[in-house]
Amino acid sequence: MCGIVGYIGAREATSLLLTGLKELEYRGYDSAGIALLGRDGLRSFRAVGKLVNLVTKVGDYRSQGAVAAIGHTRWATHGKPSEENAHPHGLRHSRVVHNGIIENHAALRAMLAKKFASQTDTEVIVHLFEKHLENMPDASDPELAGLAALRATLDELHGAYAILLITESLPGKILFARKGSPLQFGITADGCHFASSDAPLVGICRETVYLEDGQWGIASADTVRLLDAQGIRVEPKTAALPASSLVAQKEGFRTFMEKEIYEQPRVLADILTGRLRDDAVTLEELPTDWLQRFSGVTLCACGTSYHAALAGSYLLERLARLPVRVEIASEFRYRDPVLDPAGLFIVISQSGETADTLEALKLAKGQGLATLALCNVDNSSIVRTADRSILLRAGIEKGVASTKAFSAQVMTLWLLALYWGTAKATLCRDRLSREVIAVRAAVGVMTPPQGIHDRIHRLSKRYLHGHGFFFIGRDLFYPLALEGALKLKEISYLHAEGYPAGEMKHGPIALADARLFTIALMARNSLYDKVRSNVEELSARDSTIVAITAEPFDLADDIIQIRPYDHPMLEFFEMLTVVQLLALEVATRLGNDVDMPRNLAKSVTVE
Ligand code: G6P
Repeated sequence: MCGIVGYIGAREATSLLLTGLKELEYRGYDSAGIALLGRDGLRSFRAVGKLVNLVTKVGDYRSQGAVAAIGHTRWATHGKPSEENAHPHGLRHSRVVHNGIIENHAALRAMLAKKFASQTDTEVIVHLFEKHLENMPDASDPELAGLAALRATLDELHGAYAILLITESLPGKILFARKGSPLQFGITADGCHFASSDAPLVGICRETVYLEDGQWGIASADTVRLLDAQGIRVEPKTAALPASSLVAQKEGFRTFMEKEIYEQPRVLADILTGRLRDDAVTLEELPTDWLQRFSGVTLCACGTSYHAALAGSYLLERLARLPVRVEIASEFRYRDPVLDPAGLFIVISQSGETADTLEALKLAKGQGLATLALCNVDNSSIVRTADRSILLRAGIEKGVASTKAFSAQVMTLWLLALYWGTAKATLCRDRLSREVIAVRAAVGVMTPPQGIHDRIHRLSKRYLHGHGFFFIGRDLFYPLALEGALKLKEISYLHAEGYPAGEMKHGPIALADARLFTIALMARNSLYDKVRSNVEELSARDSTIVAITAEPFDLADDIIQIRPYDHPMLEFFEMLTVVQLLALEVATRLGNDVDMPRNLAKSVTVE
């Protein structure tokens, strides 16, 4: 998804911006660009595709002396990925980069009645800005005139934005604004640095200021004039940034996704640190008297995090006997939902910046509900908005297809269910003790057993064609089926669906033939006989069956044997590794870019 960087100072700015954009690359993008305002006037470079194309466009050009510079990676929303649609967008005197969506851009285009160079919503911003700047009655103070023109522009925009703008009347300055899309800055001895997330600033700034919604202003190399929505000057609130570079290395793995799959045992071990005492689970983030106030739970998320929420609903219901509803954030926010004011609203997000999840959280908060975020990124918008948060401890996840964040989410929800169940006394001693033994065992389960990766690699060549995949499972293995199918379609571009095994006979079985691949999640500890019957129905209609199971099953065309466990969650985590590796191997054989699949973004900051 789109990323922003900016810099004011005397360092060479092209390489600084390109390095910053590189840090944002993992978020997914389809074009990129930079613009600089310095001794040579305004210079812009834009290119479609990967950053290397932009580097070629920049060629030998290097900034000289003090500059104000902005850069952007674009993930197309309005208009296809092309050079004209890439940011920065400009008019005669100004250039702008923007994350978010200007919802009334069509009306603004009509009102401006100008010739536009792109199909983007962003371009209206620079048109409005220049129009307002030209009409400023007194331009004797360029800074005040620039701020007034920006304010007038912002007043006309509906939607979400993080904006950086440079203009010729303000050399050495960047105008900025934030509403709904993250933006931050940090000041060092050599200048002022902007970014849309921590990554480009780590290693450069020790501290950062996260702009709050509605804040805007103007920055120079050593000072920032920060204003609130009413135009009143506010003191920037600084927060510490991690000292070490976040650049995760592949450590010998072919891709970040593969490395992240193999990191899962370590992630689960980190999650358990300090939280298990004998037979008890503790979550210091949540006082038990706080938890006991709530009559029920709403879990809300998008994508993979939504699948974790679904898995969590089975765990919270079963272990803590809580009524649970699960919501897809993008549906929830426009449904005029009726919420129980005595319930706890939990959002789940790897990035903490997903626009739909953030807005759903604000909606629930606005209705007076207590809120909790399960999130992987500290200081993210979601963490800062929720009343309380539990960090997922998965470490930075670079692969666009989420793997270790999902296992971290499910493990954290399992701990939450046990902690809550203990507080509510819904779990007898024996049950709790069995659960805690399984929780500890899960760490080892996530190390793929000897030979399984090889087996999946060999098997994958039989599953590159066909007219579709159905991942099927029941109970907890239904959300896992959804996640398995999502992983496969995200990186292989093959059609895959996750389905409750018992529902196949109500429609999808009509698709069954030898070219329909069924991936059956057959857990011995969870409705095994029921799932077996559902798979037999598909086998009888000639679907090609891959069974993932610890049991012998002679109707399968291929079996991926998992180890025999006596707890469904252990089967869950081992099967999770299997479906992740299956997606990885199929996509790799198809020659796809596993870490940066086409059309996808790691952090979806638009709705
Ligand atoms: C994007 C990513 C998915 C992710 C979803 C929700 O679509 O590609 O991998 O599951 O957003 O993201 P979040 O950061 O809120 O978990």
